[in-house]
Amino acid sequence: TPQKAHYIIGVSQCSDDEWREQMNKEIKREALFYPGVKVDICTAKDDNAKQIADVEDFIDKGVDLLIVSPNEAEAITPVIEKAYDKGIPVVLVDRRIYSDKYTAYVGADNYEIGFQVGNYIAERLHGKGQLVEIAGLHGSTSALERHRGIMAALKKTPDIKIVASADAAWLRVSAKEAFDSILNCHSHIDMVVSHNDRMAEGAYEAALEKGRQKEMLFVGIDALAGEGHGVEQVINGQLDATFIYPTGGDKVFEVAMNILQKKKYNRETILSTALVNRANARIMQMQTAHISQLDSKIEVLDKRLDAYLMRYSSQQMLLYACIII
Ligand code: FRU
Repeated sequence: TPQKAHYIIGVSQCSDDEWREQMNKEIKREALFYPGVKVDICTAKDDNAKQIADVEDFIDKGVDLLIVSPNEAEAITPVIEKAYDKGIPVVLVDRRIYSDKYTAYVGADNYEIGFQVGNYIAERLHGKGQLVEIAGLHGSTSALERHRGIMAALKKTPDIKIVASADAAWLRVSAKEAFDSILNCHSHIDMVVSHNDRMAEGAYEAALEKGRQKEMLFVGIDALAGEGHGVEQVINGQLDATFIYPTGGDKVFEVAMNILQKKKYNRETILSTALVNRANARIMQMQTAHISQLDSKIEVLDKRLDAYLMRYSSQQMLLYACIII
């Protein structure tokens, strides 16, 4: 069967932050390898109603495929089912919905990450201590699964007590506020586990303001490279450890293209995680710095290619004009 040469892919991100920015960059870079494919990215800024409207908009525009990271599963499920029922393939990334009506999922296994985080906590605290959990947005599947994973791993260590738990909606400021009140109620805390590094930073700031940051260890998830992010926070000692939550934008785009081009693809692509602590953070930073240099070179080459093609086509026009004259 002949395949359409031009595709429009709609990307609906639930949030707007450094992790999403990284994924969007990877998606756009991968798209450079597929001429004739247009990528339209929008962000709902953690607002379910905005994300529903964004997806509706993409449906109305008649996109060929949707990539969606659903803010909260329950609220976003119906609009994704609607798109799917209309025959638009849907690739879910990072978070899931409460339905089978999607074409593929690309992202890490959040339960598994939670489980690894829980094991790390148990080991680091030697099976005993006062723990605080700063959780991600309650209705998002990544937060629910991370929580379940952490709890499952901690079952074997009854002497690790979760003295407080707060939903900080993935946000630094909310984590800071929540942890500030937790600090007021608890005179001793051994460890704070945050569902992402951004919230770990907020919690750390609250502790710092009270001069209590050295009393406890901070653990996060994401491990983004780059200034001020997770890996650097491990290097400067602010975070005791973090776990890689891969953005995988290139893989997401590859799966999307395989679906569009009727090639083989896996319905579930599970990206793996790894512990980042003092032992490997520096190596990781060096390597990601190198990768990001190479990435920029790809972008430079693409711009040059564009410029050459423009010059080439205007020369061709000139040539035709000369022949006609
Ligand atoms: C980014 C983010 C990450 C987190 C993920 C969970 O928007 O908040 O920090 O790991 O979403 O879905």
